[in-house]
Order: sequence, then structure tokens, then C-alpha cells
Amino acid sequence: MVEKKVYKKENSSEVVVITGAAGVLCSVIARDFVRCGKKVALVDVNEASTLALEKELSQLGTVKSYIASVLDKESLIIAQENITKDFGVCDILINGAGGNNVHATTSDEIFDPNLESDKDFFKLLESGVDFVFDLNFKGAFLTTQVFSKQMALRGSGSIINISSMNAYQPLTKIPAYSAAKAAISNFTQWLAVYFAKAKLRVNAIAPGFFATNQNKTLLFNPDGSLTPRSLKIISKTPMNRFGEPSELLGAIRFLTDDSQSSFITGIVIPIDGGFSAYSGV
Ligand SMILES: NC(=O)c1ccc[n+]([C@@H]2O[C@H](COP(=O)([O-])OP(=O)(O)OC[C@H]3O[C@@H](n4cnc5c(N)ncnc54)[C@H](O)[C@@H]3O)[C@@H](O)[C@H]2O)c1
Repeated sequence: MVEKKVYKKENSSEVVVITGAAGVLCSVIARDFVRCGKKVALVDVNEASTLALEKELSQLGTVKSYIASVLDKESLIIAQENITKDFGVCDILINGAGGNNVHATTSDEIFDPNLESDKDFFKLLESGVDFVFDLNFKGAFLTTQVFSKQMALRGSGSIINISSMNAYQPLTKIPAYSAAKAAISNFTQWLAVYFAKAKLRVNAIAPGFFATNQNKTLLFNPDGSLTPRSLKIISKTPMNRFGEPSELLGAIRFLTDDSQSSFITGIVIPIDGGFSAYSGV
């Protein structure tokens, strides 16, 4: 049964919904959208950091917090209803919530039969793998289910997923995160096809390496110096450095702006200082 309700695009500024909004990367994305005059809904499970971000960004424009978990569909539905009441139907959805888990991370890069490891592949916990798949894949799936229907019925809008370098080639140690991000790139294409006739575009960005909360223990020693893994990353990044979160903004603006990218859907843009282009040799 096709729902008859039609949601008209409003003339006022666009409504942006960002999950994981209080995180290092998405808070920068949120700030940029607020500065551009859009109405920004910050959706995150961390109440304290989301309210602090709301307070800061409200000096710049229209922004409001909605405490919800991307793993809890009921909480997303409540957030979606409140956002629609406060701001109107979502125009731009950023599926930003994501992250890894120590119980899904091996201590060694390669199996060595002569070494006994406390956290080799065989000892990874099912609960850790579930956590990582749920947060990175199912979280984007459920959020898109909840927010995209009104967008598709109205016949406009843009969804951005956040993939990763791991989607192209898995990084050592993090098999679940790598597979979940590969699933996100795949899901981006699936959604792009599904919503194409509804003029709802779905694309993704694949950030390279940005120093954030999620990866700080992998990238930095307790004294702040670079870990051996960081040194490897930098040596495989032709630009020879980590990215700055603000370097994501050009691609996000481009992909979410119909006047710039109206015929682009189903792509994943790497923002990686050349990491994905370089074989290392
Ligand atoms: N940092 C990097 O180098 C990098 C590289 C590639 C991709 N990414 C991806 O970019 C996105 C943002 O990463 P980040 O580094 O800014 O992470 P971050 O850890 O700084 O922020 C993640 C945010 O998500 C929120 N969150 C966690 N679980 C949630 C849930 N169930 N519901 C709602 N919100 C939840 C957290 O509270 C936090 O505010 C993630 O999808 C991540 O996988 C990051």
C-alpha cells in the first residue's frame, strides 16, 4: 500500500540531521552546516557532549540536540518526530555514528604459530564483533529507514554515509570494522539505486586517517608520540600527514548541494591524502 502523504520541500533553510554529531569529525561537519545557515539536528547518544556542542553552535545559528541511539529504532523514531516538529522534514542526513571496539581488535597483525598472543583472531569476542557491526552498519541502516521515507515521498534530499579506507582494503588488526565499512560502501550503492527515482541521492565519503577519539589508542602512545602503526600509516600516505577534520567539508558540501551534484549518486569519495592510490611501493 503506497502512502499518499506528500511532504513539500520548504522554502526556508534546509534541515540537516547528523548522527554521531558530537564526535570529532561530525561536530566539525555540524558546525559548517550551522555556519551555512542550515537548521541542524544533533543526534547522539552522549548527552553531555551533545548538549555542550549545541550550546557552542547556538551562538552561530539554528541547532538542537536530540539524544538517541542509532541502535535503538524507537529512540530514532522519537528523534525524527521531534525534529520534524521543530525544523521540518530532513533534507540532508549524515550517518556519522560509528567506531571500533577493543574486543574486535587483534594485538598482532599476522598469525605467528610460534607466538602465544592474548588477543589473536581466535580470542576476539563475538560481543565485540556484534558491537562493531551494529554500530557501523545496522546504525546507518536503521537511521536511514527512519529518516528517508519522508525524504523519498517528498522527492528530494541527500544522504551521506561515512565509509573508510578499510572498505577498499582491510587494515590489519580490525577485521570487524573493516568488513562493516565495506558493508557501508556497498549499502550506499544499494540505497542510491533504490531511491534514484525518488530523487533522493545517496553517497559516501571515505576518510583516510584523522586523529580522533576512536583511533587514539592505535595512533598514539600514552606519551603522545606516534605508534609504529601511525608511522606505517604516514609512510603510506603520500601527503605524509593525518587529515584535518575541516578537510572533509568540501566533499560534504559538494555531495549535499543539488546545484553542484544533482546527477551524482552511489559514489564514495576518498579523502585520504592519496592513501588509497598508493601501493606503498
Ligand atoms: N577518525 C577517523 O580517522 C575516521 C576514518 C574513517 C572513518 N571514520 C568514521 O567517521 C565517523 C565519525 O568518526 P569520529 O572519528 O569522529 O568518531 P568519534 O568517536 O569522535 O565520534 C563518534 C560519535 O558517535 C557517537 N555514538 C556512538 N555510539 C552511538 C550510538 N549508538 N548512537 C548515536 N551516536 C553514537 C559518540 O557518542 C560520538 O559522539 C565514524 O563513522 C567513523 O567510523 C573515522
